[in-house]
Amino acid sequence: MKRNLIIASACCIFSFTAIAQKKTIDQKVDSVLKLMTLDEKIGQMNQYNGPWAATGPLTNDDKLLDQIKEGKVGSMLNVTGAKRTRELQDLAMQTRLKIPLLFGQDVIHGYRTIFPIPLAEAASWDMKLIEQSARVAATEAAASGIHWTFAPMVDIARDPRWGRVMEGAGEDTYLGSLIAVARVKGFQGKGLGNTNAVMACAKHFAAYGAAVGGRDYNSVDMSLRQLHEVYLPPFKAAADAGVATFMNSFNDLNGIPATGNKYLQRDILKGQWKFKGFVVSDWGSVGEMIPHGYAKNNYEAAMLAANAGSDMDMESRSYIQNLSKLVKDGKVNISVIDDAVKRILRIKFVMGLFDDPYKFSNEEREKAQWNNTEHRKIEKEMAKKSIVLLKNDKQTLPLSKQTKTIALIGPFIKAISDNLGFWSYDWPDDSSRITSTYDGIKSKVSADSKLLYAKGCNINDSITTGFAEAVETAKQADVVVIQVGEARDMTGEAKSRSNIHLPGVQEDLIKAVMATGKPVVVMINAGRPLIFNWTADNAPAILYTWWLGTDAGNAIADVLFGDYNPSGKLPMSFPLTEGQIPIYYNHYNTGRPAQNDSDRFYRSAYIDLSLYPKFAFGYGLSYTSFEYSDIKLSKSSFKPTEKLTATVTVKNTGNYDGEETVQLYIQDLFGSVVRPVKELKGFQKVFLKKGEAKEISFAITTEDLKFFNDKLEKIYEPGDFKLFIGGASNNVKQTSFTLTK
Ligand code: BGC
Repeated sequence: MKRNLIIASACCIFSFTAIAQKKTIDQKVDSVLKLMTLDEKIGQMNQYNGPWAATGPLTNDDKLLDQIKEGKVGSMLNVTGAKRTRELQDLAMQTRLKIPLLFGQDVIHGYRTIFPIPLAEAASWDMKLIEQSARVAATEAAASGIHWTFAPMVDIARDPRWGRVMEGAGEDTYLGSLIAVARVKGFQGKGLGNTNAVMACAKHFAAYGAAVGGRDYNSVDMSLRQLHEVYLPPFKAAADAGVATFMNSFNDLNGIPATGNKYLQRDILKGQWKFKGFVVSDWGSVGEMIPHGYAKNNYEAAMLAANAGSDMDMESRSYIQNLSKLVKDGKVNISVIDDAVKRILRIKFVMGLFDDPYKFSNEEREKAQWNNTEHRKIEKEMAKKSIVLLKNDKQTLPLSKQTKTIALIGPFIKAISDNLGFWSYDWPDDSSRITSTYDGIKSKVSADSKLLYAKGCNINDSITTGFAEAVETAKQADVVVIQVGEARDMTGEAKSRSNIHLPGVQEDLIKAVMATGKPVVVMINAGRPLIFNWTADNAPAILYTWWLGTDAGNAIADVLFGDYNPSGKLPMSFPLTEGQIPIYYNHYNTGRPAQNDSDRFYRSAYIDLSLYPKFAFGYGLSYTSFEYSDIKLSKSSFKPTEKLTATVTVKNTGNYDGEETVQLYIQDLFGSVVRPVKELKGFQKVFLKKGEAKEISFAITTEDLKFFNDKLEKIYEPGDFKLFIGGASNNVKQTSFTLTK
């Protein structure tokens, strides 16, 4: 195909072969730019959805494919498969300048091999594995002609009612920043241009996760200090890691829609952070500035977005219809257009698409990814490490593989597509490829074990007629495993919920089965923290099994029967009720810090509700137990030029080998602005054999003590600090130190 292109180019007035001989990519970009008409430039800034699938409100356009041939389209989204991407690239090759299309897609947690949802992966706190997960997704997607994934979503989220919490890394800025880097590295692999690497996209810039009331697309109003301290760092980390693109967001930030927000896109991203990639709008978000009440019409919307630094318009058609006139009217300077187009062309060169526009669309490579056992193995590993053990009274878990009779109850036991979660692809052979919990358990237990099954109820209705069968089934068993939760489309984009209790009558089913007196293990499949207080207080064992992807059933069986000792830690606080939201561990102390729930005049406590979440950030049990020694500091005070070392000994005191995530938190006691009660500043995962102990040390420098002051400068301040180390944000040893001048 490369040969064909060269032959075609030779007949063309403009030869890219000549351009290719020039030295740097920037020079190549300039050479192409010089050849372009204004309309061709604007075409590069236009992205359409393919006619086969949509992830947003679609505009009917029967001239869509013709527009590609006319050079009016720079990128397409939702065009899947080597064959289709090749066909559309063929159209781009009929344009005057033969500038290749970029194909983008939401490859959020896997493509063919579906991985756990990002929030679940975050519970692994395992950066290497998270990177590998993105690597697999990139390899599979790239073979289908996809150049660009709209991931990672790096929005910090403190409100589990917001449906999109499933797509991010949870509530913590430090953890979220590390995960942002891991995912960018995973997607972009050894470098863009390799046929197994896709361009990553840090989204949604910015503060989308702070939508008021957790309602999707809602407004965000926050101090710039909070924006810089809590919400921007994961984006900065992604930019520093070389992320190719950014996507702006649907929300307005302090009254200005992100898409038209010059402060975010020009001043911070392209200015302070010197970001060299390009910014794509979110779906239709340029045009949505009209209902926002920020632009009068599409003409004005295009002007505001382009001038604010949105380089590519996803699906609103405002750019293609208005930019030319805006330039002629002097409302958008040609330098704005040129800058955007250069950014886009640059990436097309980096990807190697000018040399071979078809290099990603390779049906053979695509086939080879089809049932890749290596990928599946990584997926299972990721799934096991994402599971969080919330409760295990009387060592109910792990179960014995020799158990005579096991009752498997609940609407998720035989689920297939519900294991995948939102933002995942359905493939025709899914039913034979995806393991259900039932099949996972069946292949794990001894041949003599008998498995009984009753669905009990549906996920989200009020029908209880299946309870009787479930109870009878439970009565015949030695142990009962119940799996409940949310259907795949109950958490995701436009899936905010005011009620995040276990849906339908599922908790009633648990109650009915528990009444048999049999030992019960509850597993909860969900895309967000749910509320299930009765179960949490009464069921002896609970595993949070999220939406774990293709090999969910086998991963779950490994954990249930002790072939893998669970090690996940919650990346978000689990509220006691919706009334506590937003609830997050790194809040301020306030002038009236409460010591306990009866301190009613303290920290704006509710008179009818505890201060504390049901399960705290960083929490997660193991089949074994870990004991922490007191913390040893290398010195009690240190100078800014020095480094402080904090050490604990962690001992495995239980009966199983296991992995612990040792977490370091710091509190700056007095500052020129108030500081959170605790902030995660480091963690280490340590594997300890039964009875084994290891010293774990953290080096602390002033970098770890920095924050944004009221002038938005990132500084540290000498003074007194508390330092905490433990296995959860609410289960720590503590000491203190001083930073001198
Ligand atoms: C979402 C983005 C997504 C885009 C394209 C939008 O509705 O907010 O996250 O990348 O659609 O599918």
